[in-house]
Amino acid sequence: MGMTIPTSLKGKSLIEPSDFSVEETEALFDLADEIIKAPEKYSEICKGRLLATLFYEPSTRTRFSFEAAMLRLGGQVIGFSEPNTSSVAKGESLSDTIRTIECYADLAVIRHHKEGGPKVASLSAGIPVINAGDGGHQHPTQTLTDMLTIRIEKGGFENINIGLCGDLKFGRTAHSFIKALSRYRGVKFALISPEELMIPEYVRKEVLLKNDIPFMEVRRLQDVMPDLDVLYMTRVQRERFFNEEDYIRLKDIYILDAEKMRGARSDMIVLHPLPRVNEIAEEVDHDPRAVYFKQAKNGMYVRMALIMALLGIENPR
Ligand code: NCD
Repeated sequence: MGMTIPTSLKGKSLIEPSDFSVEETEALFDLADEIIKAPEKYSEICKGRLLATLFYEPSTRTRFSFEAAMLRLGGQVIGFSEPNTSSVAKGESLSDTIRTIECYADLAVIRHHKEGGPKVASLSAGIPVINAGDGGHQHPTQTLTDMLTIRIEKGGFENINIGLCGDLKFGRTAHSFIKALSRYRGVKFALISPEELMIPEYVRKEVLLKNDIPFMEVRRLQDVMPDLDVLYMTRVQRERFFNEEDYIRLKDIYILDAEKMRGARSDMIVLHPLPRVNEIAEEVDHDPRAVYFKQAKNGMYVRMALIMALLGIENPR
């Protein structure tokens, strides 16, 4: 107990997974493990600190888990989830908004429809900025959530075979996840999507090929199912489509059901960042391999660890 938090994270922003080293990321997971074991030890550690949540796009888990995390650390929260009620509606720029928010809060969590929005905000901010999703680009704290869940359920990341299935083009959680996992030895990816929703070229080239990561791109989930340790399902991202017909044609292309689960290993786990639409049948929820609601809970614990680290708060002894 009482492990130390890397002081190198104090004051930092988290825009994409590579902003933290593998060691820093693992230290966050160690801290999250300790919080899970004895949450009451942390209930007043952020007393007097304020977190701001700026959500320009809809959210349930990300915003609530950040707010719950800060409140469970004894801190307080301000923010908006409906930008039209703030000066955004008057045409205020994101950098002016963040320069104002930093007068009041100690750190800011931003979700924005524009790719790079939170990054731009972090450049003019004097407080740590956390990217809670920027358009179809990245979502690093979902990745921390996903990774903590894998670490708890599978014991670590080395030599695991991971299938990502669904909308790999617009799904920002998939991009951040691949980026982060590509730093571990022996990780293999099966990328399961229709032609139209394959991973973006920058992920293929700058992450997978550049780091010599073994991966295959396939169309049918059943073909790779028996080999997977982890299956990461994603929602078809309706809000990023240019036309409704394409969405309708592709939305139900993968539906994970009990029948398909019979083709998987008994120790495979199913992740999903949620919200789910149709891509996982509800019957799968009862399968012990389905861990997506546990994953949502882990998201709060890892965000508690993240808030402590960025604020430079010492672990209680
Ligand atoms: C994800 C997101 O916002 O990108 N949701 C989340 O944060 N848990 C996934 C999604 O919306 O499909």
